[in-house]
This record gives sequence, structure tokens and C-alpha cells, in this order.
Amino acid sequence: MKTRESIMGIRAYVPGKPIEETAKEIGMRVEEIIKLASNENPLGASPLAVEAMQEAAKGVSLYPDGGAVALREQLAEFHGFAPENIVPGAGSSELIELLAHICLESDGELIAAKYSFTLYPLMTQLFGAKYVEVENKTDYTHDTAAMLRAITPNTRIVFITNPTNPLGTMIGQEEIDAFMQAVPEHVLVVFDEAYIHFAEEQPNTLKYVRAGRNVAVLRTFSKAYGLAGARIGYAITTPTIAELLHKVRSPFNTSSLAQAAAAAALRDEEHLRRSVRVVRDGMQQYEAAFREMGLEYIPSHGNFVLVKIGDGTATYRYCLQRGVILRPMTGYGLHEWIRISFGTRDQNERCIQLLREVCSR
Ligand SMILES: Cc1ncc(COP(=O)(O)O)c(C=O)c1O
Repeated sequence: MKTRESIMGIRAYVPGKPIEETAKEIGMRVEEIIKLASNENPLGASPLAVEAMQEAAKGVSLYPDGGAVALREQLAEFHGFAPENIVPGAGSSELIELLAHICLESDGELIAAKYSFTLYPLMTQLFGAKYVEVENKTDYTHDTAAMLRAITPNTRIVFITNPTNPLGTMIGQEEIDAFMQAVPEHVLVVFDEAYIHFAEEQPNTLKYVRAGRNVAVLRTFSKAYGLAGARIGYAITTPTIAELLHKVRSPFNTSSLAQAAAAAALRDEEHLRRSVRVVRDGMQQYEAAFREMGLEYIPSHGNFVLVKIGDGTATYRYCLQRGVILRPMTGYGLHEWIRISFGTRDQNERCIQLLREVCSR
């Protein structure tokens, strides 16, 4: 069998360890295990979204609306755009892939900040393009001036991840505006805003879509809306870019269940508010504990935090054996750090207790 050369060096994405697998491995019941490894919503999905999926399940023998017309109309109204500006996908992951589809080939380059979401390099490699990683500033935020300097005539995409994963840092309006003023027109700027709901201040990036710039803003229902398992996200972009995305997506890329769930979740503002509150409370809870334990951490605008624990892999194993799944950062070369997604108050307390044990060993 002859396969594509460009995929040979790719290392498959390693997700957070699933609860069921962990339960089997350590001989605990599924209910006893908590997963703080994939930046999921500890409150779960909105009950309205669950109900909508149950209702949609009645029609699951039929193909979904491939154009997701109703959801696109609702999202367009929500953001003050036209449906032509909205492209839903199977999570924002699919949209990252679709953007790579429309822009990347072997002579292309993709720029992202160091320690970015692992799908960016993976997709770049998939298309045989060059991944250009730009060092962050000392406060771990994107160095947008350096990112601008890294742009060449071959640059196709620049990712601005705001807030960024796994660091949790973000840049503000002024820096975004300065970046947008200088970025050349041949580059597609992707604002990946998977965690934007958790940020106290949310820069306006949609104004650049409105202005017709080559910009795509990515949002997801996986995080603040608690619908990671439904696989639904969307891009807000210009009609020209949206049309290209529609060309390369598979005909039924979002399921009828996911479309129904997203539509209902978007209406449940109270659930969103509660979900954001749990995350902000979580950050305070961990900050207090880290200070008490004397641990270095990166203040986060997302629903997770990176903490310097010493031996990240050993900590991961210690907690895993006791039913708490965290995310080691060895894949990023951050061996001393571990990423913790915020859970409920009780879940966080259980995790903090284990970290105390790790520190006192
Ligand atoms: C920065 C960032 N972007 C995009 C995604 C993709 O999320 P999803 O495909 O579930 O929408 C993630 C998931 O962890 C992420 O961290």
C-alpha cells in the first residue's frame, strides 16, 4: 500500500485519559473517578440541550440538515451576522482541519505561538506544510510582534489562541488591534476562541470579520456549554472564506443531535453563567492552594491551570492511581508542569489534597 509521505512523521493526538479506561486499570468504580484532564464542563451540559438531543433522537434515522440552516440562522442572529458568515463543524477541531484544507500545501507555512493546541502542528504536518513556532513573551503571552516578524510570503495561516491552551494566558484588544493593523492581506488570521467565555475581558475580533478581513473566529460548544461529546463548534468568517469551507467539509459534518443540542444550549444563558462562575471560583480555589503550597503557576483565563509541580509524569501517575485524572505536559516538553482542568468545588478539593500529598513526599 502506498500512503502519503507527509503523514509518516505524525504522532496521533493523545487525548485526556478516559474515565472508563482508568476505572478498569486501577480497579475503581467509574463514579469514583474524576477527570480534570480535558477542560470539560464539570456541571455537564444544559438540561435543555440534553432534552433537545432526546427529542432529536426520534428523527435520527434521517440524515441531518447538511447545511445546518436553523443553527446557522440562530448563531448569525446571536452574533449579529448573516448565516453566510457561519460555518458549523464537528467541534472547532474540524474547523481547524478545514481551514488547513483551504490554505495549506507543501510550500505553505503556519505560524502559532509556542505551547499551542497540538492540533495546529498536527494539521500542518498533515498537509506537508511548515510549522513555525514563535517563542512567547516572558509572561507566557503570545508575542504578536515576533509573530508578525515570522511572516513570509509563504505564510498562509497565523493562529492567535485567546485564551491559549495549555498556558491559559491571553492578549488584549490593543495588542490584537496592533497585530491586525500590521498583518499582510495574504495571511489568514485565525482567532481560536475556544475558552473565550471564561475570560473577564473579551476582545472584539468579530469586527475584523465585519470589515471583510481574512479572518476566521472559532468558537466551540465543548467547553463553557458542556457539549464536548456532541462535537459541535463553528467559525464566524467572511462569506468568501465560508464558501471555501463549505466546499471542503463533508456533506453532513454535524449531526442532527449536535445541531439540536447547540441550538438549545445557546438559549440557556443561565447555565452558561453558572458554568463560568464554577470556573472562576475554581481558579480562586487553586490559586489559594498553590500559594499555600508555594507552587509556581500561570494565572489562567481558561477553565484550566498549569502548575509547576516538579515531576509532572510522577504527579499524573500518583493522582491517577487515586482516581483523579490530570494532564501531563510531557508532549510539550514541560516535564515539571501539569495541567488541571477546573472541576466542582469538591472535585478541586480532592485534587488539591492529592497535590499536597505529592508535595510532602
Ligand atoms: C485551543 C483549542 N482550540 C480548539 C479546541 C477543540 O475543541 P473542540 O474540537 O472540542 O471544539 C481545543 C480543545 O481542547 C482547544 O484547546
